[in-house]
Amino acid sequence: MITSVKEILTKAKEGGYAVGAFNTVNLETTRAIVDAAKKMHSPVIIQITEKTMEYAGGRLIYHLVKNDVEFYAPEIPVGIHLDHGKSFEIIQHCAEIGLTSVMYDGSRKKYEDNVEATKKVVDFCHEKGIDVQGELGSVPYLGEAGSREINWEKYMTDPNEAERFVKETGIDALAVAIGNAHGFVRERSEPDFERLSKINELCGGIPLILHGASDWENGKVAEVIKRGISCLNVDTAIRMAFVDRIINSAKKEEVSFDIRKLLEEAREAVEEVVKQKIKYFGSEDKA
Ligand code: G3H
Ligand code: 13P
Ligand code: ZN
Repeated sequence: MITSVKEILTKAKEGGYAVGAFNTVNLETTRAIVDAAKKMHSPVIIQITEKTMEYAGGRLIYHLVKNDVEFYAPEIPVGIHLDHGKSFEIIQHCAEIGLTSVMYDGSRKKYEDNVEATKKVVDFCHEKGIDVQGELGSVPYLGEAGSREINWEKYMTDPNEAERFVKETGIDALAVAIGNAHGFVRERSEPDFERLSKINELCGGIPLILHGASDWENGKVAEVIKRGISCLNVDTAIRMAFVDRIINSAKKEEVSFDIRKLLEEAREAVEEVVKQKIKYFGSEDKA
């Protein structure tokens, strides 16, 4: 059942577990996430990015996800969300299409500019019943520092600023930077758990989101959930599983030229990843 992201996140926060926000790009990754959620009896968030909207067509991918959930898992709460919207125009476009949850990512702007741009999005969205996730501090991308060590201090969320940011913008969820990074490998070796607890304490119970969770192992995941994270974003692990399986299948002596067979294998690989993440995040049987 298509469900409000805010409701899914609030239940997770109250229940002391986290949900996964899984990126989809096509029918196969969508079905894999929906099937995993159904089999694990878990709420999930399915998210799409601007690039995916360009690739698949925004309206089409939104309705694909919506229909897939309605046909195949009507009993499971699934939220549909725009990941990393970077302009007011893309937010307007998502509202037109029918999305009821968006992220506005102003994290690379100066604090005042991030507040101004995020607040503009919140005012526009709340009037239409759309939830907004904001980001303060910034979650780096794999490779952006080249071969240099990432200067983590530059990226981290300041807890006092976060308290102000939440009040000044009116956002519904906050993405935090505590040593997490997009893509594999570049995480800070130890997340700043203390910083997370402080943010959680100061931000009045708002759901906190951890981007870049593809390579977070179990122990760290449990610790951030204990300290206030209600949602972890996973994209890279899905891409890797999908592409790896296609490559390996294509290496077999008897390569199938039935595209459906190849894609079905890739879909199964993604489903396994999503099921494992659901287990780690503690949302199994919470639907
Ligand atoms: O953090 C977001 C995604 O991993 C980037 O995905 O290539 O669809 O923009 P994208
Ligand atoms: P990963 O690159 O770790 O999968 O993070 C994805 C993400 O944060 C999407 O917003
Ligand atoms: Zn992200």
